[in-house]
Amino acid sequence: MKHLLKMLDLSGEEIIDILNLADQLKYELKHGIPHPHLKGKTLGMIFQKASTRTRVSFETGMYQLGGYPLFLSSHDLQIGRGEPVQDTARVLSRYLDGIMIRTFEQKEVEDLAEYGSIPIINGLTDFCHPCQVLADLMTIREFKGSFDGLKMCFIGDGNNMANSLIVGCLKVGMAVSVACPDGYRPPAEILDFANQYDNFEITDSPLKSAENADVLITDVWASMGQEGEAEMRKKAFAGYQINDELMAVAHDDAMVLHCLPAHREEEITEKVFEAHAKEIFEEAENRLHAQKAVMVKLMAD
Ligand code: CP
Ligand code: NVA
Repeated sequence: MKHLLKMLDLSGEEIIDILNLADQLKYELKHGIPHPHLKGKTLGMIFQKASTRTRVSFETGMYQLGGYPLFLSSHDLQIGRGEPVQDTARVLSRYLDGIMIRTFEQKEVEDLAEYGSIPIINGLTDFCHPCQVLADLMTIREFKGSFDGLKMCFIGDGNNMANSLIVGCLKVGMAVSVACPDGYRPPAEILDFANQYDNFEITDSPLKSAENADVLITDVWASMGQEGEAEMRKKAFAGYQINDELMAVAHDDAMVLHCLPAHREEEITEKVFEAHAKEIFEEAENRLHAQKAVMVKLMAD
């Protein structure tokens, strides 16, 4: 593994390896055991979109690993004034040991990896959010003990979170059911991958999708960059909400995850959100541990 660009690039075994290391790093942190695997290394973090969790967890994680994180806002970089990503990649490769990037187009992340000579980590694009899904898988295994026989149900937009969850959950052996409104299904690349699995289904019925689910997950109706579509999306996604009605058809011990930020009473009710806050905030914490594992795998000597 040279980069983390998208879940499609990882094998099931590589995902499990990352999760095992993440569990170990979490244990070490909780028990005060130092783990300076990236002593003397630097990580550049390019942000073309807002972030709370990704920025703070990468920055803290790098510090805990003995390395140094640099926050690079696209407003300040020449990339924000049109310097090509191909040149930025070749320059930054001469100063840094790794780059985390959050941006719009997946191609920009793929180009950084192609033209640079250091590991690239995707911190969210319009296409996918692999760091979040590694944390989600870590959280599912932590609460459920294993992935065996579990069904993950995603309700909402066939966007970056759905794309990475579909691929990640199928690769570790879970059954996957996705409910999206017409016109908001995941792209063909994801559906072509998923349709190879017998335990994948896509529907426009949230109730059908949630039936016997062990894990229910949703995401905002309007993602970063789609603010102008927010009103139209409110209409399209009405009913695509994790609420008591959906929880009633899922397994009694079903868990709920949300990558955050959440919009209460849109994609999830306040009641369900608060009833599952334990899982949701453990999931947020696990961003730190999962990303530290990714950085160690990619950047340690
Ligand atoms: N879930 C997530 O990526 O959060 P941020 O946008 O705050 O980084
Ligand atoms: N789909 C959301 C995820 C935020 C972490 C977005 O792209 O804004």
